[in-house]
Amino acid sequence: MPWAKLHSHAPFNIATSGVAHWKLRDLPVRLEDLEISGPSFYGFPPLQQALSKHCGVEPDRIVAATGTSMANYLVLSTLLKPGDEVLIEQPTYELILAAAKQIGATITRFPRTHESGFALDPAALERAVTPRTRLIVIGNLHNPSSALADEETIRQVGEIACRVNARVLVDEVYLDAAFEKAPRSAALLGDHFIVTSSLTKVYGLSGLRCGWIVAEPALVQAMWRLNDLMGVIPAHLAELVSVIALGELPRILEAVRKRLDTNRAILNRFFDSRADLEVARQPFGTIAFPKLLRGSVDHLAEVLRTKYETTIVPGKYFEMPDHFRIGIGGDSEPLEEALRRLGHALDDIMES
Ligand SMILES: Cc1ncc(COP(=O)(O)O)c(C=O)c1O
Repeated sequence: MPWAKLHSHAPFNIATSGVAHWKLRDLPVRLEDLEISGPSFYGFPPLQQALSKHCGVEPDRIVAATGTSMANYLVLSTLLKPGDEVLIEQPTYELILAAAKQIGATITRFPRTHESGFALDPAALERAVTPRTRLIVIGNLHNPSSALADEETIRQVGEIACRVNARVLVDEVYLDAAFEKAPRSAALLGDHFIVTSSLTKVYGLSGLRCGWIVAEPALVQAMWRLNDLMGVIPAHLAELVSVIALGELPRILEAVRKRLDTNRAILNRFFDSRADLEVARQPFGTIAFPKLLRGSVDHLAEVLRTKYETTIVPGKYFEMPDHFRIGIGGDSEPLEEALRRLGHALDDIMES
């Protein structure tokens, strides 16, 4: 995260994982709809209603949280005590690991492999689960690869969890970027699933910090109480704008779809032109995770940043130092230029 906050910025930044920011002026917000403070105690009722409609569950199954980040933290710290075993996919979003470490959980891992296109493999998970596993953590879509797990696979993960009396946290912050290919949310598959998400990545609304958890009501109560320690209530202005934004999601999603379709074609043309990269191409998502077949990713990232003013995310942040992550959620022209520059940097490191 310090790298992402301090060092990923560049004129051609393809290190981001979400789509470009949606502007306040593009939402139907009127000054008279806004207020600084309001009735937000255990949830602001209109926001709870809007999230309930979005997630397809009753409001008593939803905890509004400060982004998926806080949502994940609340889930992990509600379900895990120091020493409890949590089984986390590898590679994963680094902050999930960091949060589990901070809680003092015992972390075990199961692999999602490059060779399988980073598919979620219940057999690999089954080999790693133990009678002590309390929680299994997966992402759908997967960060960093955008691999999608279908409903049947998610159900199988749930069955494995149930056998050892564990629960499954599914981070679905990228799921809507699969559009009509997205399976139903895991939140609808049983109380052993807990889902987190937000308006950050797919909708370009990160500044609202509109995140949520879907869980069974008893857990929801415990998470609200834990959230009392973290900030008591959210910024009410953000809650009000989030309610308005949630009403606009279909329109935003159509714009996102067009952007990602165009950008994926640009990315695929780039991959077609490179024999030095190997990648499991995904038909959806906002990010891709190619493997560099020759040379060092750190060297590539350095040449790219210093000589070509372009940033990617080195795979070391995902425990896979021979990979790197490309984000395609930005504007198409800068993406095309960033990939042209990436091509030059790849050529340079081959020659040096
Ligand atoms: C898998 C995953 N979960 C959660 C987050 C954090 O999202 P938010 O901005 O909603 O806190 C990210 C951000 O990169 C992510 O990749």
